[in-house]
Amino acid sequence: MKLSVIILAAGQGKRMRSDLPKVLQPLAGRPLLGHVLDTAEALGATDVHVVYGHGGEQVQGAFRDREVDWALQAEQLGTGHAVQQALPGVPDDHTVLILCGDVPLVRAELLKSVVSAGEQTLAVLTAELPDPTGYGRILRDGTGRVNGIVEERDATDDQRAVREINSGLMACPASLLGGWLGRVGADNTQGEYYLTDIVGLAVTDGRPVNAICAPVADEVLGINDRRQLAHAESLFRARVANALLDDGVTLVDPARIDVRGELICGHDVVIDINTLFIGAVELGDGVVIGPNAVIRDSVLGAGTRVLPHCLIEEATVGTDCEIGPYARLRPATVLAERAKIGNFVEIKKSEIGPGSKVNHLTYVGDATVGAAVNVGAGTITCNYDGANKHRTVIGDGAFIGSGVELVAPVEVGAGATIGAGSTISKSAPSDQLTLERSKQVTIKNWKRPVKE
Ligand code: UD1
Ligand code: CA
Repeated sequence: MKLSVIILAAGQGKRMRSDLPKVLQPLAGRPLLGHVLDTAEALGATDVHVVYGHGGEQVQGAFRDREVDWALQAEQLGTGHAVQQALPGVPDDHTVLILCGDVPLVRAELLKSVVSAGEQTLAVLTAELPDPTGYGRILRDGTGRVNGIVEERDATDDQRAVREINSGLMACPASLLGGWLGRVGADNTQGEYYLTDIVGLAVTDGRPVNAICAPVADEVLGINDRRQLAHAESLFRARVANALLDDGVTLVDPARIDVRGELICGHDVVIDINTLFIGAVELGDGVVIGPNAVIRDSVLGAGTRVLPHCLIEEATVGTDCEIGPYARLRPATVLAERAKIGNFVEIKKSEIGPGSKVNHLTYVGDATVGAAVNVGAGTITCNYDGANKHRTVIGDGAFIGSGVELVAPVEVGAGATIGAGSTISKSAPSDQLTLERSKQVTIKNWKRPVKE
Protein backbone atom coordinates (compact mmCIF):
# COMPACT_ATOMS: atom_id res chain seq x y z
CA MET A 1 0.00 0.00 0.00
CA LYS A 2 1.35 3.42 -0.95
CA LEU A 3 1.61 6.05 1.73
CA SER A 4 0.83 9.76 1.65
CA VAL A 5 1.72 11.90 4.66
CA ILE A 6 -0.14 15.10 5.52
CA ILE A 7 1.54 17.35 8.07
CA LEU A 8 -0.59 20.01 9.75
CA ALA A 9 1.41 23.17 10.19
CA ALA A 10 -0.93 26.10 9.56
CA GLY A 11 -1.63 27.13 13.13
CA GLN A 12 -0.16 30.19 14.77
CA GLY A 13 0.64 28.66 18.12
CA LYS A 14 -0.74 31.54 20.18
CA ARG A 15 0.33 29.89 23.41
CA MET A 16 4.00 30.17 22.40
CA ARG A 17 3.68 33.98 22.60
CA SER A 18 6.13 34.41 19.76
CA ASP A 19 6.36 36.16 16.40
CA LEU A 20 7.90 33.00 14.98
CA PRO A 21 5.31 30.50 13.65
CA LYS A 22 5.12 27.57 16.04
CA VAL A 23 6.38 24.94 13.61
CA LEU A 24 9.56 26.99 13.12
CA GLN A 25 10.39 27.08 16.84
CA PRO A 26 13.69 25.24 17.27
CA LEU A 27 14.03 21.90 19.00
CA ALA A 28 17.68 20.81 19.28
CA GLY A 29 18.53 23.66 16.93
CA ARG A 30 16.14 22.63 14.15
CA PRO A 31 12.57 23.77 13.46
CA LEU A 32 9.87 21.49 14.85
CA LEU A 33 8.58 20.92 11.35
CA GLY A 34 12.05 19.77 10.25
CA HIS A 35 11.91 16.92 12.76
CA VAL A 36 8.48 15.86 11.49
CA LEU A 37 9.58 16.06 7.85
CA ASP A 38 12.57 13.81 8.64
CA THR A 39 10.24 11.28 10.24
CA ALA A 40 7.93 11.37 7.19
CA GLU A 41 10.95 10.79 4.99
CA ALA A 42 12.08 7.85 7.12
CA LEU A 43 8.68 6.24 6.55
CA GLY A 44 9.27 6.16 2.82
CA ALA A 45 6.12 8.10 1.97
CA THR A 46 5.38 8.50 -1.74
CA ASP A 47 4.28 12.08 -1.18
CA VAL A 48 4.43 14.51 1.72
CA HIS A 49 1.95 17.37 1.99
CA VAL A 50 2.39 20.24 4.38
CA VAL A 51 -0.66 22.32 5.25
CA TYR A 52 0.61 25.82 5.86
CA GLY A 53 -1.06 29.11 6.62
CA HIS A 54 0.10 31.20 9.50
CA GLY A 55 3.50 32.73 8.71
CA GLY A 56 3.21 30.99 5.33
CA GLU A 57 6.12 32.53 3.49
CA GLN A 58 8.41 32.10 6.46
CA VAL A 59 7.46 28.45 6.84
CA GLN A 60 7.87 27.69 3.14
CA GLY A 61 11.12 29.65 3.02
CA ALA A 62 12.63 27.58 5.80
CA PHE A 63 12.10 24.37 3.78
CA ARG A 64 12.72 25.56 0.25
CA ASP A 65 15.13 22.68 -0.39
CA ARG A 66 12.66 19.97 0.68
CA GLU A 67 10.52 18.00 -1.68
CA VAL A 68 7.05 18.62 -0.30
CA ASP A 69 3.65 19.57 -1.69
CA TRP A 70 2.42 22.71 -0.01
CA ALA A 71 -1.30 23.10 0.65
CA LEU A 72 -2.45 26.54 1.74
CA GLN A 73 -5.00 26.83 4.51
CA ALA A 74 -5.74 30.55 4.24
CA GLU A 75 -7.95 30.61 7.32
CA GLN A 76 -7.32 28.30 10.24
CA LEU A 77 -10.74 26.75 10.62
CA GLY A 78 -9.58 23.65 12.46
CA THR A 79 -7.56 20.47 12.04
CA GLY A 80 -10.27 18.74 9.96
CA HIS A 81 -10.46 21.69 7.59
CA ALA A 82 -6.65 21.68 7.42
CA VAL A 83 -6.52 18.06 6.25
CA GLN A 84 -9.16 18.83 3.63
CA GLN A 85 -6.84 21.40 2.03
CA ALA A 86 -4.23 18.74 1.27
CA LEU A 87 -6.56 15.94 0.27
CA PRO A 88 -6.98 16.85 -3.44
CA GLY A 89 -3.26 16.08 -3.87
CA VAL A 90 -3.56 12.59 -2.36
CA PRO A 91 -4.29 9.63 -4.67
CA ASP A 92 -7.43 7.72 -3.71
CA ASP A 93 -5.70 4.36 -3.38
CA HIS A 94 -3.15 5.56 -0.81
CA THR A 95 -3.10 5.19 2.93
CA VAL A 96 -2.95 8.64 4.53
CA LEU A 97 -0.94 9.32 7.66
CA ILE A 98 -1.72 12.62 9.37
CA LEU A 99 1.08 14.13 11.41
CA CYS A 100 1.22 17.40 13.33
CA GLY A 101 3.98 19.93 12.94
CA ASP A 102 3.91 20.37 16.71
CA VAL A 103 4.39 16.69 17.62
CA PRO A 104 8.10 16.28 16.84
CA LEU A 105 9.35 13.38 18.97
CA VAL A 106 7.35 10.54 17.48
CA ARG A 107 9.51 7.86 15.88
CA ALA A 108 9.06 6.30 12.48
CA GLU A 109 9.02 2.83 14.11
CA LEU A 110 5.89 3.65 16.09
CA LEU A 111 4.23 5.31 13.11
CA LYS A 112 4.73 2.20 11.00
CA SER A 113 2.35 0.33 13.30
CA VAL A 114 -0.18 3.17 13.02
CA VAL A 115 0.03 3.04 9.23
CA SER A 116 -0.52 -0.74 9.14
CA ALA A 117 -3.47 -0.38 11.51
CA GLY A 118 -4.90 2.29 9.19
CA GLU A 119 -4.76 0.40 5.90
CA GLN A 120 -8.39 -0.79 6.06
CA THR A 121 -9.98 1.52 8.60
CA LEU A 122 -9.21 4.46 10.87
CA ALA A 123 -6.28 4.16 13.26
CA VAL A 124 -5.43 6.72 15.92
CA LEU A 125 -2.25 6.98 17.95
CA THR A 126 -3.02 7.44 21.63
CA ALA A 127 -1.10 7.53 24.91
CA GLU A 128 -1.81 7.19 28.61
CA LEU A 129 -0.66 10.32 30.40
CA PRO A 130 -0.46 10.91 34.14
CA ASP A 131 -1.60 14.45 33.40
CA PRO A 132 -3.77 14.58 30.26
CA THR A 133 -4.50 18.32 30.57
CA GLY A 134 -4.89 20.08 27.24
CA TYR A 135 -5.29 17.00 25.06
CA GLY A 136 -8.35 15.49 23.42
CA ARG A 137 -9.57 12.41 25.36
CA ILE A 138 -10.21 8.97 23.86
CA LEU A 139 -13.73 7.71 24.55
CA ARG A 140 -14.47 3.99 24.63
CA ASP A 141 -17.73 2.08 24.87
CA GLY A 142 -18.61 -0.55 27.47
CA THR A 143 -16.67 -3.21 25.57
CA GLY A 144 -13.56 -1.04 25.34
CA ARG A 145 -13.97 -0.10 21.70
CA VAL A 146 -13.02 3.44 20.73
CA ASN A 147 -16.11 5.42 19.82
CA GLY A 148 -15.04 9.03 19.89
CA ILE A 149 -12.58 11.77 20.82
CA VAL A 150 -13.65 14.77 22.82
CA GLU A 151 -11.59 17.95 23.07
CA GLU A 152 -10.84 19.08 26.60
CA ARG A 153 -12.86 22.27 26.17
CA ASP A 154 -15.92 20.29 25.09
CA ALA A 155 -15.53 17.50 27.66
CA THR A 156 -17.63 16.71 30.69
CA ASP A 157 -15.89 16.23 34.05
CA ASP A 158 -16.12 12.45 33.65
CA GLN A 159 -14.55 12.64 30.21
CA ARG A 160 -11.79 14.86 31.49
CA ALA A 161 -10.89 12.20 34.01
CA VAL A 162 -9.89 9.89 31.12
CA ARG A 163 -6.13 9.63 30.92
CA GLU A 164 -5.90 8.16 27.45
CA ILE A 165 -5.29 11.04 25.06
CA ASN A 166 -5.35 11.67 21.33
CA SER A 167 -1.87 12.30 19.95
CA GLY A 168 -3.45 14.05 16.97
CA LEU A 169 -1.80 11.51 14.64
CA MET A 170 -4.00 9.19 12.59
CA ALA A 171 -3.97 6.94 9.55
CA CYS A 172 -6.71 5.69 7.26
CA PRO A 173 -7.46 4.91 3.60
CA ALA A 174 -7.61 8.11 1.52
CA SER A 175 -10.84 6.84 -0.02
CA LEU A 176 -12.62 6.99 3.34
CA LEU A 177 -11.06 10.19 4.67
CA GLY A 178 -12.65 12.59 2.18
CA GLY A 179 -16.15 11.33 2.93
CA TRP A 180 -15.72 11.64 6.67
CA LEU A 181 -14.21 15.13 6.49
CA GLY A 182 -17.12 16.31 4.31
CA ARG A 183 -19.47 15.37 7.15
CA VAL A 184 -17.53 17.08 9.97
CA GLY A 185 -19.37 20.08 11.40
CA ALA A 186 -18.17 22.97 13.54
CA ASP A 187 -20.63 22.61 16.37
CA ASN A 188 -18.21 22.91 19.30
CA THR A 189 -16.91 25.53 21.72
CA GLN A 190 -14.27 26.74 19.26
CA GLY A 191 -16.50 26.69 16.16
CA GLU A 192 -13.79 24.70 14.35
CA TYR A 193 -13.84 21.70 12.05
CA TYR A 194 -12.20 19.08 14.24
CA LEU A 195 -10.31 16.22 12.62
CA THR A 196 -11.06 14.24 15.75
CA ASP A 197 -14.75 14.08 14.82
CA ILE A 198 -13.98 11.53 12.09
CA VAL A 199 -13.62 8.94 14.85
CA GLY A 200 -17.30 9.18 15.73
CA LEU A 201 -18.20 9.18 12.02
CA ALA A 202 -16.19 6.02 11.39
CA VAL A 203 -18.05 4.32 14.24
CA THR A 204 -21.38 5.51 12.82
CA ASP A 205 -20.37 3.92 9.52
CA GLY A 206 -19.72 0.65 11.31
CA ARG A 207 -15.95 0.82 10.88
CA PRO A 208 -13.92 -0.30 13.86
CA VAL A 209 -11.39 2.30 15.04
CA ASN A 210 -7.95 0.97 15.89
CA ALA A 211 -6.23 2.71 18.76
CA ILE A 212 -2.46 2.27 18.94
CA CYS A 213 -1.31 3.24 22.40
CA ALA A 214 2.27 4.60 22.41
CA PRO A 215 4.39 2.49 24.79
CA VAL A 216 6.45 5.58 25.60
CA ALA A 217 4.08 8.48 26.06
CA ASP A 218 6.87 11.05 25.61
CA GLU A 219 6.86 10.37 21.89
CA VAL A 220 3.46 11.95 21.41
CA LEU A 221 4.18 15.12 23.36
CA GLY A 222 2.45 18.01 21.58
CA ILE A 223 4.10 21.39 21.82
CA ASN A 224 1.76 24.26 22.47
CA ASP A 225 3.73 26.43 24.87
CA ARG A 226 7.28 27.15 25.99
CA ARG A 227 7.10 24.75 28.89
CA GLN A 228 6.26 21.87 26.61
CA LEU A 229 9.00 22.98 24.20
CA ALA A 230 11.56 23.01 27.01
CA HIS A 231 10.34 19.60 28.14
CA ALA A 232 10.67 18.23 24.60
CA GLU A 233 14.20 19.64 24.46
CA SER A 234 15.15 17.73 27.60
CA LEU A 235 13.56 14.54 26.25
CA PHE A 236 15.43 14.95 22.99
CA ARG A 237 18.66 15.57 24.88
CA ALA A 238 18.17 12.36 26.85
CA ARG A 239 17.46 10.44 23.66
CA VAL A 240 20.70 11.65 22.06
CA ALA A 241 22.72 11.11 25.24
CA ASN A 242 21.45 7.55 25.59
CA ALA A 243 22.36 6.78 22.00
CA LEU A 244 25.90 8.09 22.61
CA LEU A 245 26.23 6.05 25.81
CA ASP A 246 25.03 2.97 23.95
CA ASP A 247 27.71 3.64 21.34
CA GLY A 248 30.38 3.58 24.06
CA VAL A 249 30.93 7.31 24.58
CA THR A 250 31.65 8.45 28.13
CA LEU A 251 29.38 11.33 29.13
CA VAL A 252 30.37 12.67 32.51
CA ASP A 253 26.78 13.84 32.96
CA PRO A 254 24.29 12.75 30.28
CA ALA A 255 21.99 15.60 31.33
CA ARG A 256 24.61 18.18 30.51
CA ILE A 257 25.41 17.63 26.85
CA ASP A 258 23.47 19.19 23.97
CA VAL A 259 23.69 17.99 20.41
CA ARG A 260 22.09 20.24 17.81
CA GLY A 261 22.98 18.30 14.72
CA GLU A 262 24.94 15.10 14.30
CA LEU A 263 27.78 14.05 16.55
CA ILE A 264 29.88 11.09 15.40
CA CYS A 265 32.32 9.64 17.93
CA GLY A 266 35.11 7.08 17.70
CA HIS A 267 36.10 4.66 20.47
CA ASP A 268 36.60 5.80 24.05
CA VAL A 269 35.64 9.40 23.58
CA VAL A 270 35.11 11.30 26.83
CA ILE A 271 32.81 14.32 26.93
CA ASP A 272 32.69 16.44 30.05
CA ILE A 273 29.84 18.60 31.32
CA ASN A 274 28.09 21.56 29.68
CA THR A 275 29.21 20.78 26.17
CA LEU A 276 27.35 21.87 23.05
CA PHE A 277 27.79 20.30 19.61
CA ILE A 278 26.25 22.05 16.62
CA GLY A 279 25.97 20.86 13.04
CA ALA A 280 28.21 18.02 11.89
CA VAL A 281 30.92 17.21 14.43
CA GLU A 282 33.23 14.22 14.29
CA LEU A 283 35.46 13.17 17.18
CA GLY A 284 38.19 10.59 16.60
CA ASP A 285 39.17 7.74 18.92
CA GLY A 286 40.18 8.79 22.41
CA VAL A 287 39.23 12.44 22.01
CA VAL A 288 38.60 14.20 25.32
CA ILE A 289 36.34 17.23 25.39
CA GLY A 290 36.68 19.30 28.54
CA PRO A 291 33.87 21.18 30.26
CA ASN A 292 32.05 24.12 28.65
CA ALA A 293 33.13 23.50 25.07
CA VAL A 294 31.09 24.66 22.10
CA ILE A 295 32.00 22.83 18.89
CA ARG A 296 30.34 23.42 15.54
CA ASP A 297 30.89 21.72 12.17
CA SER A 298 34.37 20.44 12.96
CA VAL A 299 36.45 17.30 12.80
CA LEU A 300 38.86 16.44 15.64
CA GLY A 301 41.48 13.76 15.10
CA ALA A 302 42.17 10.82 17.40
CA GLY A 303 43.82 11.57 20.71
CA THR A 304 43.09 15.29 20.63
CA ARG A 305 42.28 16.94 23.93
CA VAL A 306 40.14 20.02 24.30
CA LEU A 307 40.72 21.66 27.67
CA PRO A 308 37.92 23.65 29.38
CA HIS A 309 36.11 26.64 27.85
CA CYS A 310 36.86 26.42 24.13
CA LEU A 311 34.89 27.55 21.08
CA ILE A 312 35.67 25.62 17.90
CA GLU A 313 33.88 26.37 14.62
CA GLU A 314 34.43 24.90 11.14
CA ALA A 315 37.87 23.67 12.10
CA THR A 316 39.82 20.60 11.04
CA VAL A 317 42.01 19.35 13.84
CA GLY A 318 44.60 16.61 13.41
CA THR A 319 45.52 13.85 15.81
CA ASP A 320 46.97 14.36 19.28
CA CYS A 321 46.45 18.09 19.37
CA GLU A 322 45.82 20.08 22.53
CA ILE A 323 43.45 23.01 22.51
CA GLY A 324 42.70 25.42 25.33
CA PRO A 325 41.80 26.19 27.97
CA TYR A 326 39.96 29.27 26.65
CA ALA A 327 40.90 28.92 22.99
CA ARG A 328 38.90 29.97 19.96
CA LEU A 329 39.28 28.24 16.61
CA ARG A 330 37.40 30.12 13.92
CA PRO A 331 36.30 28.88 10.50
CA ALA A 332 38.94 27.43 8.14
CA THR A 333 41.39 26.67 10.90
CA VAL A 334 43.43 23.57 10.12
CA LEU A 335 45.65 22.10 12.80
CA ALA A 336 48.10 19.38 11.83
CA GLU A 337 48.95 16.56 14.25
CA ARG A 338 50.36 17.45 17.68
CA ALA A 339 49.67 21.17 17.33
CA LYS A 340 49.13 23.00 20.62
CA ILE A 341 46.84 25.97 20.92
CA GLY A 342 46.84 27.47 24.38
CA ASN A 343 44.84 29.89 26.47
CA PHE A 344 43.35 33.07 25.04
CA VAL A 345 44.49 32.25 21.54
CA GLU A 346 42.35 32.94 18.46
CA ILE A 347 43.09 31.21 15.17
CA LYS A 348 41.25 32.09 11.95
CA LYS A 349 41.62 30.76 8.40
CA SER A 350 45.11 29.45 9.10
CA GLU A 351 47.05 26.25 8.91
CA ILE A 352 49.22 25.34 11.84
CA GLY A 353 51.83 22.70 11.05
CA PRO A 354 52.70 19.49 12.92
CA GLY A 355 53.93 19.97 16.47
CA SER A 356 53.72 23.76 16.32
CA LYS A 357 52.78 25.68 19.45
CA VAL A 358 50.75 28.84 19.82
CA ASN A 359 50.41 28.79 23.53
CA HIS A 360 49.34 32.11 24.98
CA LEU A 361 47.35 35.26 24.20
CA THR A 362 47.86 35.28 20.46
CA TYR A 363 45.94 36.07 17.28
CA VAL A 364 46.80 34.11 14.16
CA GLY A 365 44.68 35.00 11.12
CA ASP A 366 45.18 34.25 7.41
CA ALA A 367 48.46 32.51 8.11
CA THR A 368 50.36 29.44 7.06
CA VAL A 369 52.49 28.21 9.92
CA GLY A 370 54.95 25.38 9.22
CA ALA A 371 56.01 22.46 11.40
CA ALA A 372 57.62 22.76 14.84
CA VAL A 373 57.12 26.52 15.00
CA ASN A 374 56.95 28.28 18.35
CA VAL A 375 54.81 31.39 18.46
CA GLY A 376 55.49 33.39 21.61
CA ALA A 377 52.93 34.95 23.93
CA GLY A 378 51.06 38.00 22.75
CA THR A 379 51.97 37.66 19.08
CA ILE A 380 49.63 39.13 16.51
CA THR A 381 49.37 38.61 12.77
CA CYS A 382 48.27 42.04 11.53
CA ASN A 383 46.26 40.59 8.65
CA TYR A 384 43.91 43.47 7.95
CA ASP A 385 44.93 46.85 6.56
CA GLY A 386 41.49 48.33 6.96
CA ALA A 387 40.43 47.27 3.48
CA ASN A 388 42.00 43.93 2.60
CA LYS A 389 43.23 40.80 4.32
CA HIS A 390 46.82 39.64 3.75
CA ARG A 391 48.64 36.42 4.49
CA THR A 392 51.46 35.64 6.85
CA VAL A 393 53.74 32.69 6.09
CA ILE A 394 56.00 31.22 8.75
CA GLY A 395 58.49 28.53 7.77
CA ASP A 396 59.28 25.26 9.58
CA GLY A 397 61.13 25.52 12.85
CA ALA A 398 60.81 29.30 13.15
CA PHE A 399 60.79 30.84 16.60
CA ILE A 400 58.64 33.94 17.05
CA GLY A 401 59.49 35.76 20.27
CA SER A 402 56.84 37.19 22.54
CA GLY A 403 54.86 40.29 21.67
CA VAL A 404 55.69 40.27 17.97
CA GLU A 405 53.53 41.99 15.36
CA LEU A 406 53.72 40.38 11.94
CA VAL A 407 52.41 42.96 9.47
CA ALA A 408 51.04 41.01 6.53
CA PRO A 409 51.75 40.31 3.78
CA VAL A 410 54.94 39.05 5.35
CA GLU A 411 57.05 35.91 5.39
CA VAL A 412 59.27 34.48 8.09
CA GLY A 413 61.80 31.98 6.73
CA ALA A 414 62.36 28.46 8.03
CA GLY A 415 64.45 28.34 11.18
CA ALA A 416 64.30 32.13 11.58
CA THR A 417 64.20 33.71 15.02
CA ILE A 418 62.23 36.91 15.56
CA GLY A 419 63.22 38.96 18.59
CA ALA A 420 60.59 39.70 21.20
CA GLY A 421 58.63 42.91 20.78
CA SER A 422 59.44 43.35 17.08
CA THR A 423 57.09 44.78 14.50
CA ILE A 424 58.00 42.80 11.41
CA SER A 425 56.81 44.39 8.18
CA LYS A 426 59.48 43.08 5.81
CA SER A 427 60.11 39.43 5.26
CA ALA A 428 62.65 37.85 7.60
CA PRO A 429 65.28 35.45 6.19
CA SER A 430 65.71 31.85 7.21
CA ASP A 431 67.97 30.74 10.02
CA GLN A 432 68.85 34.25 11.20
CA LEU A 433 67.81 36.51 14.04
CA THR A 434 65.65 39.42 12.92
CA LEU A 435 64.48 42.04 15.34
CA GLU A 436 63.06 45.50 15.28
CA ARG A 437 63.41 47.34 18.51
CA SER A 438 64.29 50.87 19.52
CA LYS A 439 67.37 51.31 21.71
CA GLN A 440 66.78 50.94 25.42
CA VAL A 441 67.78 53.99 27.45
CA THR A 442 67.96 54.72 31.14
CA ILE A 443 67.56 58.36 32.20
CA LYS A 444 70.04 59.21 34.90
CA ASN A 445 68.97 61.27 37.92
CA TRP A 446 65.33 61.04 36.86
CA LYS A 447 62.91 61.58 39.74
CA ARG A 448 59.38 60.37 40.05
CA PRO A 449 56.97 63.33 40.40
CA VAL A 450 55.49 63.76 43.85
CA LYS A 451 52.04 65.01 44.65
CA GLU A 452 51.87 68.75 45.32
C1 UD1 B 1 -5.07 18.65 18.72
C2 UD1 B 1 -6.22 17.64 18.77
C3 UD1 B 1 -6.27 17.01 20.16
C4 UD1 B 1 -4.95 16.34 20.45
C5 UD1 B 1 -3.79 17.32 20.27
C6 UD1 B 1 -2.47 16.56 20.36
C7 UD1 B 1 -8.00 18.42 17.29
C8 UD1 B 1 -9.30 19.12 17.20
N1 UD1 B 1 -7.46 18.33 18.50
O1 UD1 B 1 -5.37 19.66 19.66
O2 UD1 B 1 -7.32 16.06 20.22
O3 UD1 B 1 -4.94 15.84 21.77
O4 UD1 B 1 -3.85 17.97 18.98
O5 UD1 B 1 -1.35 17.38 20.26
O6 UD1 B 1 -7.51 17.93 16.29
N2 UD1 B 1 -3.59 23.23 12.59
C9 UD1 B 1 -3.76 23.63 11.28
N3 UD1 B 1 -4.88 24.31 10.92
C10 UD1 B 1 -5.85 24.60 11.81
C11 UD1 B 1 -5.69 24.19 13.15
C12 UD1 B 1 -4.55 23.50 13.51
O7 UD1 B 1 -2.88 23.39 10.43
O8 UD1 B 1 -6.84 25.22 11.40
C13 UD1 B 1 -2.37 22.49 12.96
C14 UD1 B 1 -1.52 23.22 13.96
O9 UD1 B 1 -0.55 24.03 13.33
C15 UD1 B 1 -0.88 22.07 14.74
C16 UD1 B 1 -1.90 20.95 14.63
O10 UD1 B 1 -2.75 21.29 13.56
O11 UD1 B 1 0.31 21.65 14.15
C17 UD1 B 1 -2.72 20.79 15.91
O12 UD1 B 1 -3.39 22.00 16.18
P1 UD1 B 1 -3.53 22.59 17.63
O13 UD1 B 1 -4.28 23.85 17.55
O14 UD1 B 1 -2.21 22.61 18.30
O15 UD1 B 1 -4.46 21.48 18.28
P2 UD1 B 1 -4.55 21.03 19.79
O16 UD1 B 1 -5.40 21.99 20.53
O17 UD1 B 1 -3.21 20.77 20.33
CA1 CA C 1 -1.13 21.00 19.55
